[in-house]
Order: sequence, then C-alpha cells, then structure tokens
Amino acid sequence: MIKITNLKKNYITKDCVVEALKGVSFDVKPGEFVAIMGESGSGKSTLLNCIGLMDFFDDGEYELNGSKINGMTTKQLNLARRNNISFIFQNYELMRNYSVYENIEVPLLAKNMKFKLRKNRIEEVAEKLNIAEYLKNYPYQLSGGQQQRVAIARAMVSDNPLILADEPTGALDRKNSTALMEYLLLLKNMNKTILMVTHDKNMAEYSDRIIYIEDGKIV
Ligand SMILES: Nc1ncnc2c1ncn2[C@@H]1O[C@H](COP(=O)(O)OP(=O)(O)O)[C@@H](O)[C@H]1O
Ligand SMILES: [Mg+2]
Repeated sequence: MIKITNLKKNYITKDCVVEALKGVSFDVKPGEFVAIMGESGSGKSTLLNCIGLMDFFDDGEYELNGSKINGMTTKQLNLARRNNISFIFQNYELMRNYSVYENIEVPLLAKNMKFKLRKNRIEEVAEKLNIAEYLKNYPYQLSGGQQQRVAIARAMVSDNPLILADEPTGALDRKNSTALMEYLLLLKNMNKTILMVTHDKNMAEYSDRIIYIEDGKIV
C-alpha cells in the first residue's frame, strides 16, 4: 500500500532549517495496521502528512497503492488523496456548523454519490460506530469520545483503503481510547490499511507492528 524510500523533508524558517525527515524508508502492506512511535518533535506528524499528501517531501520516493507520487501534477495528487486516504486527527477536526450526519457526508459529496445511496451508507456506518442516535446533533453536543467516533465514521464511509491517524487518542481518557482502538480494529477487519501515530504504548499494542522514529530517522 505504501512504499517510501529515503524520504527527506526540511522546514525552512526565517532563521533556520529544520531537518524533520532525514531519509525515511519503509513499506506497509495492504491491510496492515502499523503504529508509529517517537518523542515529540521526532517527525511523526511530518511523516504522516507527507504520506497523506497534505505536505510535500523534498527528496526520496513514494509509491501509494501502486502509483508513483513523484512527478504527479497537483490535480493527480488531489485525486490520489481523495481516492486513497482518510485522516483521523487528535482534535477530531469536525466541522462545527455541520451536523454529525453532514460531517460524515462530506467524503461522499466529494465522490458525487447520489442522495439515497449516501443516506443508506451514512446510517449503516453510524450504526456500526454507535452514533446513529446523534446524526442530527452538532459536534459540540457530543463528548470527545463520540466526536472521535464521528471522525472514524467519516473515514469509514469514504471506503478509502488507507487510514492515517495522528494521535487519535491524544485527547481521550483511557476508557474512550480503548473503545476507539476497537473501532480502528473494525476498520482493519474491513481490510483497511492503518497508519497510526501514538505516544501511548498501550494503544500501539493494538497494531501489527510498531515503527520507532527518532530525530527524523527510523530506529
Ligand atoms: N511548519 C513547520 N515549520 C517549521 N518547523 C516545523 C514545522 N512543522 C514541524 N516542524 C519541526 O519539525 C520537527 C518535526 O515535527 P513534527 O513532525 O511535528 O514532530 P512530531 O509529530 O513527532 O511531534 C520538529 O522539530 C518541529 O519543530
Ligand atoms: Mg505530531
């Protein structure tokens, strides 16, 4: 699903150059659940954002779901992102003025799915994540755990093969974190490939494999 070779990324600021990724290489097979661990500032989010095509890398090679990312036009990158990748963030990143239903609907609108199909699909996914009774509510009316389940529903509904999660349990208590991992395993059982950044060893243990990153390098 993911094949990256010698990925490098610098941030250039007014007064210095930060080498955030110093040549990172690894593969992730389809259906694998991989955790990425490392200290704060080690480059985990940078790596995830590059893999998620949310940010550009400076050097190295990246093959996503059989397609070479190097040399793609902006239009091709947007398509590759839309058809392959769903993100789950630490702070949920739901749209405040959209209902739960509308939040989950966003990826389906992007795919031009018809109303009736969208409705069926959203209700089915909401059922799986135990948020069916909140579809008309707004994110601020929900607990953190419930909001993150909406974010998972949004990732699930799009049916994209790759789920990227950046500290998805970072804002949740232990009970909600454990519950969330069970929902991520649900995605894995649907054959999704999952790449999850976490600080928490207990959460990383739900994965098939842990990659450790230190100062922009895999260790
Ligand atoms: N937009 C940015 N501009 C400048 N430096 C950045 C930016 N984003 C991240 N960095 C730096 O890059 C390094 C890696 O950051 P990050 O990938 O966010 O680490 P992590 O997610 O592991 O905490 C850090 O030194 C951080 O300060
Ligand atoms: Mg981070």
